Amino acid sequence: MPGILNLAQIDLPVATVLTEQLEEVVVILERQLASDHSAVNALCRHIEQYSGKRLRPLLLLLTGLAVGRPPWDSSELTERHRIVAAVVEMIHLATLVHDDVLDEARIRRKVATLNNLRGNETAVMLGDYLISNAFSLCSSVMDPAINLYLGEVTNTICEGELLQLHHRDDCDIDERTYFQIVRSKTASLIGECCRLGAVLSGADATLCESMRLYGLYLGIAFQIQDDLLDITGDEAVVGKSLGRDLHSGKVTLPLIRYLATAEPQLRVEALGEFTSRNAQKLRLRLVESGAVADARGEATRFVEDAKGRLTSLSPGPARDMLETLAEAVISRRY
Ligand code: IPE
Ligand code: IPE
Ligand code: MG
Ligand code: MG
Repeated sequence: MPGILNLAQIDLPVATVLTEQLEEVVVILERQLASDHSAVNALCRHIEQYSGKRLRPLLLLLTGLAVGRPPWDSSELTERHRIVAAVVEMIHLATLVHDDVLDEARIRRKVATLNNLRGNETAVMLGDYLISNAFSLCSSVMDPAINLYLGEVTNTICEGELLQLHHRDDCDIDERTYFQIVRSKTASLIGECCRLGAVLSGADATLCESMRLYGLYLGIAFQIQDDLLDITGDEAVVGKSLGRDLHSGKVTLPLIRYLATAEPQLRVEALGEFTSRNAQKLRLRLVESGAVADARGEATRFVEDAKGRLTSLSPGPARDMLETLAEAVISRRY
């Protein structure tokens, strides 16, 4: 799958730096996942081969550059940035492998999921293997604070997924709880990527916190868009099984908004379509009522909040690219 930004088409030195650095991150990731056992290697190769959008490592590297000084070249980025960028992608991969078990998803990154190919047992163990490798790789940086913060983030991600399971088929879920789930399962890691990029570049505490908030708001918008794609997206373009939220009883923002505002009779109809998993009718209802557009508006507000956190950075191409990236999160089709 292409990256979230098409770096090859951006005619700026900073885009070239990021392309080269991401290639090195992939080498680190592949090296870490090389096992002496060919059976384990085959599984790792399957999931590495099909790269995703690389949003998290890209954000870590880009914030690492953006907090620095002109000309924002590769000298701003160290091996520590690249290792931690590989770590966050590995954590993300682990969560995807486990999440596909929970959601019974068949396709991810345009190919069969591991649970589809090899069953749940293998997928659960491989997810564990990935998370374990992520933390052993992270320890090689010899900075316990990074392990500590990423450990807290993985705790938070699990809490988010557990909270989501707790609210499975709960049509009374309120927006506050929805946002708690989204912040925990998705935005916390994205926020931490941005904070760590800044930390590794030696930025002061205030700037590191601004970068975390930029990533947090961007991450919330990212998950709202993901939830919208699950309803309205094209599976061939998105590259993963869609309609999984309805299938697994996840009530997301458009439906929450609809249920909160619809006339009683329409509300009953929507609840019926949800319970019987009538994806087609529910999609039509959420689109035609404006609930989908409303959720999109909410995502746009989070993107604006994210961009608002960039004002303490020096103006320049790295900051501009962080703005472009925030917008790409909601304009994306995959
Ligand atoms: C999917 O993340 C899981 C969510 C948090 C929505 P991505 O959409 O970043 O997945 P890849 O890495 O591009 O496959
Ligand atoms: C993201 O939620 C879950 C993770 C944080 C891994 P989703 O369940 O919506 O992610 P996708 O749509 O399967 O990628
Ligand atoms: Mg899922
Ligand atoms: Mg989803």
